[in-house]
Amino acid sequence: MDKISITVCMGSSCFARGNQQNLAFIEDFINKNNLNAEIDLAGNRCENKCASGPNIIINGVEYTEVTEEKLEQILSQLLVK
Ligand code: FES
Repeated sequence: MDKISITVCMGSSCFARGNQQNLAFIEDFINKNNLNAEIDLAGNRCENKCASGPNIIINGVEYTEVTEEKLEQILSQLLVK
């Protein structure tokens, strides 16, 4: 399986709108499922797309208005492959 790369926008708007919780959720998900070797987690700065935030890029795909439910769906799907 290819590594999954996750880039979380850490700009203040996205962070305040949910990425703080989303980041905690991802870290928890990685730990619970022992995915340290499978997932590359990084943060980036505001990309001026705050209005559609919180924004997270997963394997090059930009996701907007990301919630924990959305994340769980996306990650579970990717991990089945
Ligand atoms: S803070 Fe994330 S796009 Fe601006």
